[in-house]
Amino acid sequence: MAHLLITGGAGFIGSHTCLVLLEAGHSLAVLDNFTNSSPESLRRVVELAGPSAGRRLEVVRGDVRSHEDLKQAFEVAPVDGVLHFAGLKAVGESMSQPLRYWDTNVGGSRSLLSAMAAHDCRTLVFSSSATLYGYPDTVPIPESAPVRPINPYGHTKAAVERMLGDLAASEPGWRIACLRYFNPVGAHPSGRIGEDPNGIPNNLFPFISQVAVGRRACLDVFGGDWPTADGSGVRDYIHVMDLAEGHLATLDALLTSGEQLLTLNLGSGRGYSVLEVINTFRAISGKAVPYTIASRRDGDAAITVADPQLAEQRLGWKTKRNLHDICRDGWAWQQANPKGYSR
Ligand code: WQD
Repeated sequence: MAHLLITGGAGFIGSHTCLVLLEAGHSLAVLDNFTNSSPESLRRVVELAGPSAGRRLEVVRGDVRSHEDLKQAFEVAPVDGVLHFAGLKAVGESMSQPLRYWDTNVGGSRSLLSAMAAHDCRTLVFSSSATLYGYPDTVPIPESAPVRPINPYGHTKAAVERMLGDLAASEPGWRIACLRYFNPVGAHPSGRIGEDPNGIPNNLFPFISQVAVGRRACLDVFGGDWPTADGSGVRDYIHVMDLAEGHLATLDALLTSGEQLLTLNLGSGRGYSVLEVINTFRAISGKAVPYTIASRRDGDAAITVADPQLAEQRLGWKTKRNLHDICRDGWAWQQANPKGYSR
């Protein structure tokens, strides 16, 4: 088994991945500054992972941009690999705070890579995003599609991928994977961990579940006149447990195959419209989920769906859960935790 450093491990995708890694027998050091997450998520991850897990997860409260904090995290135990989730990820926020996004997402990754080299660790799984494709020419989108980000958040993900490509080419020994997530949603089926965004949710799923649980009054559907079957936007929603399992498969591939640089889409290859999501969520929750058709949101594309073939070919991984599973598990989390991790 490996000892792994997980940056941002208390966050939505990080916490679910920590659970899968613990269940696979790995030991973890989690570095998180908790600006957009809660230590409670990691307490529950240990609870779910079983009795031995407490001894195999150590939490370091700190920032990935801090040399001292990184040193402390690397000194927990010799690190066999890093999964790098720490970063900012709200498209709209990145438009108003670009330098904060460049500093955190690119500056943080840069600091991490220096610390990895200093501690002789050259295996990295990077949390990238399909946002870097911008407006796709074709759908489904293959990894060979042009990287054409249209917002600062997407630019920072593309910049880190570029930095990682240069690094992998500069010296042998680096084993790097860039995982381009489509739309991560849902929750662990226990309802104990899930997505807990700060403030008003930017993303569709947490907004719908907060309407269903009574925290929000009504959902705005951003556009009813898109060139899609029902006029609402279509996205590739991937269950967060499928995503977490995709990270485990990627880590195994890097540790065993010696791949220098893997760039993979993590998506289902199946698109669902906003109205389909609403109707499925209504059926699962039994809640009305009122909505209005509003104007389109700047920066949105009509349809964004992954071509997931390469991940299946290189990892032997593909998604197993569908929209019904996503809504069922997401609703179980929201019902059990109406205010997320805060009491
Ligand atoms: C999904 C669909 C909206 C909210 C974002 C970012 C990026 C990535 C995934 C990490 C679209 C519609 C949404 C609402 C709506 N994550 N919508 N009303 O924009 O596809 O991707 O999340 O990398 O952060 O690119 O996700 O959930 O915001 O939107 O109608 O209140 O729901 O128009 O069609 P998006 P989203």
